[in-house]
Amino acid sequence: MKIKNSNTDLTKLNWDEFYSLPLNQKLGYFDKEGRMFDCLFSQQLSSNNLKTLFDLANKIRKVAKEKGGLDWLQTLLSHKRAMLYFVQPSTRTFVSFQSACYILGMKVSEIRSTSTSSELKGESPEDTIRTFSSYADLIIMRHFEEGMAEKSAWMLNKTKRPISIINGGSGKDQHPTQALLDLYTLNLSFQDKGGIDNKTIVMVGDLKRGRTVRSLSYLLENYKNVKIIFVAPDYLKIGNDVKEFLKRKKIPFKESNDLVKCLPEADAVYVTRIQDEYDINNESKNIDYSKFHLKKEHLRKMKKSAIIMHPLPRRQELDVEIDKDPRAKYWRQERNGMWIRTALIAYLFRIENEINRY
Ligand code: CP
Repeated sequence: MKIKNSNTDLTKLNWDEFYSLPLNQKLGYFDKEGRMFDCLFSQQLSSNNLKTLFDLANKIRKVAKEKGGLDWLQTLLSHKRAMLYFVQPSTRTFVSFQSACYILGMKVSEIRSTSTSSELKGESPEDTIRTFSSYADLIIMRHFEEGMAEKSAWMLNKTKRPISIINGGSGKDQHPTQALLDLYTLNLSFQDKGGIDNKTIVMVGDLKRGRTVRSLSYLLENYKNVKIIFVAPDYLKIGNDVKEFLKRKKIPFKESNDLVKCLPEADAVYVTRIQDEYDINNESKNIDYSKFHLKKEHLRKMKKSAIIMHPLPRRQELDVEIDKDPRAKYWRQERNGMWIRTALIAYLFRIENEINRY
């Protein structure tokens, strides 16, 4: 497999050479027979992929409503095993993926901390992943280190037993399946309002270290005339890499530090918490994050048709009083995650036609 527009063989590169390549030159390495094999980055998901996954998720949730339908779904991958390797804290990504595996009948093993695996005895993450591939048919992983999901897939794709890897969150970098469920939620919310095209999305909070906003920004390239407004404290502004991407793709965006002023323009407000787990010297303590909280009194500034999203978990940045407002979609958003993740697993195992025929 060659680097795009070059004669260099991707399979011959060492990890550092491979990792340093621009994403668009190496995405093909994570495909097999012309379709996605590992799900690592938002940029792998085309508008065709998104439509396939949204339709499949809708079909699966409909089939799973009836006992007979759910029983049938549970036969589809009953011969397959998944490894859930989550060595960074998680509630909903872990449980929704676990539930997704159960919906398709998969058997699941889990490791949730390096302190309970042989990594404590000095085994490398690479050998750990290689070991999972001896027992499982799919690895779903969350790791504190940026690039670890990519490195795992890069390494396994060179072995005699390559299995798919799904990135359930990699350091401050990406969380593609969160972006997928965010888009699925936007798509469902705007299905009678012209879809996601032409909408203005306000993303507020810790945009520097929030991997969900990064992944969602990349995915919005699949829609027409979407505008993004990034609202963050100076220290936590969205990274230049995302801004460069948006400029390249001609996606209009602006930056602000005044949430209230931006609210009337929003079709969706995407609230995020401060990611102080990535602090090096307690720097979050010096930031007045309260200006980036969405409060009940702000709701009257928003359009009646707008929606409020949050990847969760939340702290004070999203007032619990807002839960009662019909525009609050975040509880639905997390449940949507289970259906779209089921669809993703079904897609990776190439059983979508079987499900669609039901
Ligand atoms: N949104 C999200 O990733 O939640 P968890 O950290 O609970 O998985």
